[in-house]
Amino acid sequence: MSSSTPEVILEQLQAAGSAFAENKPGAREQLLNLGYSLVSSLQLPSEAIQRMGWAEPARAAHCRIAVELKIFEHLKESGERGISAKDLATKTGADEVLIARTLKHLAAMNVVAESGIDKYAATRLSDAFTEPRYRDGIVYTHDVAGPSFHGLPEYLKSIKYALPTKLTDGPFQAAHKTQLPFFAWLDQNPPYLQIFSNYMGAYRAGKPSWVDPGFYPVSERLTTGFDGSDGNGVMLVDVGGGRGHDLQELKEKHPSLPGRLILQDQADVISTVSGEGVFEATTHDFFTLQPVKNARAYYLHSVLHDWGDDDCVRILEQLRPVMKPGYSKLLINEIIVPGRDATWPVTSMDQLVFVLGAMGERMELSWENILKRAGFKVTHVYSYEMGSESLIEAELA
Ligand SMILES: C[S@@+](CC[C@H](N)C(=O)[O-])C[C@H]1O[C@@H](n2cnc3c(N)ncnc32)[C@H](O)[C@@H]1O
Repeated sequence: MSSSTPEVILEQLQAAGSAFAENKPGAREQLLNLGYSLVSSLQLPSEAIQRMGWAEPARAAHCRIAVELKIFEHLKESGERGISAKDLATKTGADEVLIARTLKHLAAMNVVAESGIDKYAATRLSDAFTEPRYRDGIVYTHDVAGPSFHGLPEYLKSIKYALPTKLTDGPFQAAHKTQLPFFAWLDQNPPYLQIFSNYMGAYRAGKPSWVDPGFYPVSERLTTGFDGSDGNGVMLVDVGGGRGHDLQELKEKHPSLPGRLILQDQADVISTVSGEGVFEATTHDFFTLQPVKNARAYYLHSVLHDWGDDDCVRILEQLRPVMKPGYSKLLINEIIVPGRDATWPVTSMDQLVFVLGAMGERMELSWENILKRAGFKVTHVYSYEMGSESLIEAELA
């Protein structure tokens, strides 16, 4: 996005504000982006460096400390009156001055509120940080992703700015001093696989989802034509579906959806999932032949972006033999990077998969090529206003 003046952005903000008041789709995201643009247009270079170099890293570090000391929980319990740094020090066992300085910075960065002199209270955000899924997001982004970003400049210099492409040899391995690929490292370093899976259930919370009205026409494309004749038909298999949050959401938003829903993931993820009568949770390695035959849809969400093209083709080839021609659909829910004006959720996810797995988000042509190599053809690509992920629907070629 080219840089605009504050005056121009303020005008755009007004228009976006009206759209927001009318509940128009994408208006919230547009306001947010304009807000960031306004800050950039007003900020001095000295302030930009201070914010990026000290204020943001300190916020991330102190949120991580607050999680460890359960400070967000103590703030929530203290209600509107708030709690003093002295009382927080007693509850946590940490030094009072240290606590006061942590809370002052978190207040200045709008994470917590101040309810008096050296007294602090919860905000909507700090209350959200007491939920396991967001709490684990803080832990995961700080402990797992953080060191990989921090070490990236040195790492790239050491390999003379070549493009890392190996799952076993990239910024993540350099930062964590391992030769294990990202998922194997998570698995061997408990509780990080659980923490990661919890966070995956939260990182898109509240954002546009493929099952929302106006995105993918679930009834038209899946329910119509569904074969439930033997009473045992499978509607959708969520391959590498984490803890089943997508299946929960699908059933919540489409309660009359017929057929069985099946979740598949690695044993350590599945072991703690119950399915709560909504879906069946099963262990399956997606590099091996898909065990569920003739499902209406095989769905992969943010799975393929963790793998290189050859691995993506291997994963998709495991589905082909069990799909019923003219009936089964392949649904790939992934970011499609636009030719220009990609938004920060898109580019930052590209950076995340880069530092964790030496991978990258893909443009539409790359997806088409992968699908073609695996024996599929794209039937339609569904996108949503200001949403960062698209739904690629494909069928056997
Ligand atoms: C980025 S997460 C996406 C999770 C979920 N689909 C979502 O979008 O929230 C990738 C998932 O793939 C799973 N996974 C990684 N390797 C796997 C394998 N070989 N077989 C099955 N699942 C695997 C991980 O455990 C994780 O849940």
